Amino acid sequence: MRRQCQGDAATESTESDVTRIAVFGAGGPTGRQLVQQALAAGHEVTAVTRRPPGFAPQAGLTVTGVDATDADAVEEVVAGHEAVLSALGVAPGRGPVSLYSAAAGNIVAGMAAHGVKRLIVVSSSVLDPGWRPSGAFFFNNVLDPYVNRVIARSAHEDMRRMEALIRETTLDWTFARPSGLFDHPAATRYELAENSADGVFTARADLAASMLRELTEGAYVHRAMGVVTTDVRPSVPRLIWREATRKR
Ligand SMILES: NC(=O)c1ccc[n+]([C@@H]2O[C@H](COP(=O)([O-])OP(=O)(O)OC[C@H]3O[C@@H](n4cnc5c(N)ncnc54)[C@H](OP(=O)(O)O)[C@@H]3O)[C@@H](O)[C@H]2O)c1
Repeated sequence: MRRQCQGDAATESTESDVTRIAVFGAGGPTGRQLVQQALAAGHEVTAVTRRPPGFAPQAGLTVTGVDATDADAVEEVVAGHEAVLSALGVAPGRGPVSLYSAAAGNIVAGMAAHGVKRLIVVSSSVLDPGWRPSGAFFFNNVLDPYVNRVIARSAHEDMRRMEALIRETTLDWTFARPSGLFDHPAATRYELAENSADGVFTARADLAASMLRELTEGAYVHRAMGVVTTDVRPSVPRLIWREATRKR
C-alpha cells in the first residue's frame, strides 16, 4: 500500500512520544538530518560518530565518539536508550564492504544485552529485487545497471547481509529503503510503500522524517519501508558530481 506523507508532520510529537534515541552515522548527511529533526521533535538524542568535534552543543543532544566496528564501545553506547536509528554508510566502489553487517552485528548484540527493542536502519531500494521505478528509462537502463549494480555492488551485498542478520533477531526492526539520495534543506512530501517505493530519488531530509515518523507510528515493524520524495527533484549532473567528490 502506498502512502503520501508531509515531512513537517513528522516533527510533531507529543510528550508521550519523546524517546531517548541513539543515532549511528550521525556525522553523515542523513545522520545530521536525523539528529536535527529528532531534536526539533523533542527527542533526547545521542549522536554516535567518529568525529564528535563536528557537533555544536545543543539542548537534548549528547555526542559520543564511537567506531561502529568496536563491539564493546557500541554495546556501551546503546545502553539506556529506547530506540536505535542507523544511517551508517560507506563510499561505494572501494573494494569489499563489511561495515553494514559488522556494525549491525554489534548494534543488535548491544541492544539485546540492554533490552533495547526498537531499531530503524537505512538500507536501499536496490535490495528489493522488484524495484524498477516507472517512467525512468535513463535510470533503469543506464544509471541503475552501472551505478547500483556495478559500482555499489559490494555495498549492497553487505546491506543484504545486514538485513538478513537483523531479520533473525527478536528486535522490533524496520528497514528504511531510500532511492538515490540528494540534499534538500527541509523535509517535503514523500511516499512510503512496503519493500520499495516507486521513484528514483529520496531527499535525505525526507528519509530522516520518514524514520522519525516510523519511530512514532510503528507502521512497518518487521518490514521494509520504501521512501521516495515526490515534490522536488535534484539536478542529476550536480548530484553525480557531488556524490563523486564529497569527503566522507
Ligand atoms: N547515496 C545514495 O544514493 C544512497 C541510496 C540508497 C541508500 N543509501 C544509504 O543511505 C545511508 C546514508 O547515506 P548518506 O550518504 O547520508 O551517508 P554516508 O555518506 O554514507 O555516511 C554515513 C556515515 O556513516 C558513518 N560511519 C562510516 N563508517 C563508520 C564507522 N566505522 N563507525 C562509525 N560511523 C561510521 C560516518 O559518520 P561519522 O562521520 O559520524 O562517523 C558517515 O558520515 C547509507 O547507508 C547509504 O548506503 C545511499
